[in-house]
Amino acid sequence: MRHLIEPEDFTLEEIEELVDTGLKIYENPRDYQKICDGKILASLFFEPSTRTKFSFDSAMMRMGGNVIGFADADTSSTKKGESLADTIRVMGYYADVIVMRHPKEGAPKLASQYSSIPIINGGDGGHQHPTQTLTDLITIKRFKGTISGHTVAFCGDLKYGRTVHSLIRTMARFGTKHFYLVSPEELRLPDALKRQLVDKYGVELKEVVYLEEVIENIDILYMTRIQKERFFNEADYLKLKNSFKVTREKIKTAKPDMIIMHPLPRVNEIAYDVDDDQRAVYFEQSEMGVYVRMALIAKLLEVGPYARG
Ligand code: CP
Repeated sequence: MRHLIEPEDFTLEEIEELVDTGLKIYENPRDYQKICDGKILASLFFEPSTRTKFSFDSAMMRMGGNVIGFADADTSSTKKGESLADTIRVMGYYADVIVMRHPKEGAPKLASQYSSIPIINGGDGGHQHPTQTLTDLITIKRFKGTISGHTVAFCGDLKYGRTVHSLIRTMARFGTKHFYLVSPEELRLPDALKRQLVDKYGVELKEVVYLEEVIENIDILYMTRIQKERFFNEADYLKLKNSFKVTREKIKTAKPDMIIMHPLPRVNEIAYDVDDDQRAVYFEQSEMGVYVRMALIAKLLEVGPYARG
């Protein structure tokens, strides 16, 4: 039995195969519409979500499976004090695979130690978001043709943004070497992660404060929102909340084939009129999340293209 708690749980070959399978499903979804017949996904969201929860639900339903679960833990027996371990043990009798999001870092890892069925981490605190990484990589492959070899700028809240933490490490594993880190001083990428990227993967990181300094050089702009829910006090959030806004003016000098990504939700870091620019692919990115999650569920359940024998 496999779990997906962090991207390192899968080899690079497995990740690229998931991306390629997701692209095949995207091209011919009808070929996969019955592969999860009789299977059940438990979707347990202890923290709010639109894309992760509903793209997983949609992914399972598009493969003929069913979905149970909650989007608000207060409607479950967690509210009565039940432990995560007990909840997970019980769900193993009711479902075949679990996707869970939790505000506490490490909660999905803990859950995997008590689970009789595969656990997928749908985001744990400011730590990891491995299925967003799969979503990001399938989007990059769809629009740029390859996963690696691009110059990437990550912009916004690099301290708390779990999507950045999972993606930058995975891109480095794939051999991407040039990253710009665009953020205010207070929201820089954690030092331990920077050290790992440089020491283990030999990447070149350049920290800058203004997007204008790098916009002409990049192939991918990965925007993130300031993660209000991770701040310890409101004043710090208010000081930083409008640090960045991508506007049509700011991307005027960008490459014509640069792509603008964002895991969403957007708050105010990308102006709405940028949506009409052909380089903006963040809604297609949300769309691709369904197909790569279909591939992931199939892999963990060993059905369809991942059936044994
Ligand atoms: N990208 C992402 O995780 O979005 P949700 O919080 O809506 O799931």
